[in-house]
Amino acid sequence: MTTEAHEASTTTPAQTPAHPTAPGSEWWRSAVIYQIYPRSFADANGDGIGDLPGMTARIPALADLGVDAIWLSPFMPSPQKDAGYDVADYTDVDPLFGTLDDLDDLVTSAHRHHIRVIIDLVPNHTSDRHRWFREALAAGAGSPERARYIFRDGRGPNGDEAPNNWESVFGGPAWTRTTDPDGAPGQWYLHLFDSSQPDLDWRNPWVREQFRGILRFWLDRGVDGFRVDVAHGMVKAEGLPDHHPAPGGGSMGGDEATAPFWAQDGVHEIYRDWHGILTEYDGDRVLCAEAWVTPLPRLARWVRPDEMQQAFNFEYLETPWDAAALRRVVDESLAAFGAVGAPSTWVLSNHDVVRHASRLALTAENPQGHGIGPLSPGQPVRELGLRRARAATALMLALPGGAYLYQGEELGLPEVIELPDDARQDPTWFRTGGERYGRDGCRVPLPWEADSPAAGFNDTGASWLPQPADWPELARDRQDGVDGSTLELYKHALRLRAGHRLGTGDLVWLEGGAEGIIAFRNGDVTVIANTGEGTVSLPEPFAGAELLLASAPVEPGVLPGDSTVWLRV
Ligand code: NOJ
Ligand code: CA
Repeated sequence: MTTEAHEASTTTPAQTPAHPTAPGSEWWRSAVIYQIYPRSFADANGDGIGDLPGMTARIPALADLGVDAIWLSPFMPSPQKDAGYDVADYTDVDPLFGTLDDLDDLVTSAHRHHIRVIIDLVPNHTSDRHRWFREALAAGAGSPERARYIFRDGRGPNGDEAPNNWESVFGGPAWTRTTDPDGAPGQWYLHLFDSSQPDLDWRNPWVREQFRGILRFWLDRGVDGFRVDVAHGMVKAEGLPDHHPAPGGGSMGGDEATAPFWAQDGVHEIYRDWHGILTEYDGDRVLCAEAWVTPLPRLARWVRPDEMQQAFNFEYLETPWDAAALRRVVDESLAAFGAVGAPSTWVLSNHDVVRHASRLALTAENPQGHGIGPLSPGQPVRELGLRRARAATALMLALPGGAYLYQGEELGLPEVIELPDDARQDPTWFRTGGERYGRDGCRVPLPWEADSPAAGFNDTGASWLPQPADWPELARDRQDGVDGSTLELYKHALRLRAGHRLGTGDLVWLEGGAEGIIAFRNGDVTVIANTGEGTVSLPEPFAGAELLLASAPVEPGVLPGDSTVWLRV
């Protein structure tokens, strides 16, 4: 390997912040943001479901981990048909999770620990329990209340065929027929997700105005920004034409190039409007797009200077553990986002996908896209998955830009594959008659203390999804301060990342490594990952370099398979 480097097409942010979290510094360009899935993080009142007081109690653990911000999945009032992504009131807290005062306490405590708080905004659809939708049903066809949503007459002589052929992301048709007050079959409404999640009509100015108020409600309360759910789906093609999917389109936005409900140009003016609202507030508030849009230059439109600040880089998440593929996606990401002056983000896990400690060791294509169960092909080997996950995370955390972590990955948690059928709760499972497992396997409540009930998730032992028998072995207290543990690897990496300013750095590739090697320099840190199985010798000057971080035990001068090192040469 030589140090003859070729500059990747990165752009250096105009102002390099003094410290990644200094106020007014565009902190989000380099932030490490930790996703909290409220149901499964920490349960203070012992009812088996995580809550806001539980989070507040655990903020010190996140400060100790070294993250810059947390993103909370939805905690608003909701019938919980899609674990809170079915919101019945956008400006309150579900009693399941606590109260608005509890939210304020969490924000205060997080800020005191220099952790910013991003909350989830779900603007594509509401719950069918939302007042807006109840009023729309009651008001009847042609009313302004119905115009908040996408109601249409059915096709066919009796209107008993859906208005078009669209399918729900969770399986089955994307339309449900209503019943009129006199019992006669009525209009149909669109739901890209579950039938309990009717889509709003974002062409309607009334809807836009409601959401301006919702943004201000939370910004006034001091939240630092929003992760925007389904940010590629809010505007549908004029006339709602039938969709003729290309073969191989998957769930959650596969097929995005042609689908008349994904990535329509009309979404961008909404984000420009919201961008303006955020700039009325101090403190560098942020919008992050959940947009399953490919290719990367197309996704970059979501983060043009007057739109959102960040977008999840799902193309990176979906890249296999393979040096050439990783190098390609990193190059393309830095080029695409850099071209619009935005940082790239990096992400390996979230509440919708198979945890990367399992996904990276699947030996067959996952036919379901997201979610695996006992009958899935190519079952992952546990040790290999963890080894690769640690190496992949060490690589990711050395890249310039923002990074997202999903709760539990810092413990090396695998996907829970053996959930009993009657415990599963994802609407995907029900809407496909058990054909697709859905996402419950990455949502199992976290283990905190090995010897406590529910492994420290609460003190009653209740847990909304059953925890596997080996969860206590992975508990935080079993890893805290333990050399070589996954938790210590994350802490160490985050400390070094901040200290060496890797998030705002520049990436320079190092050429000439063996097949399976990906290597780069970021500032004074050299990162070498071996995505192959065999051990590779490191030439000088790397063999004699100071070892800053290793994802697996290493001997001087060699890099074992499926491992990553950070060196100071
Ligand atoms: C994306 C969210 O991450 C997912 O959990 C949810 O089911 C869908 N959007 C629908 O809101
Ligand atoms: Ca609780």
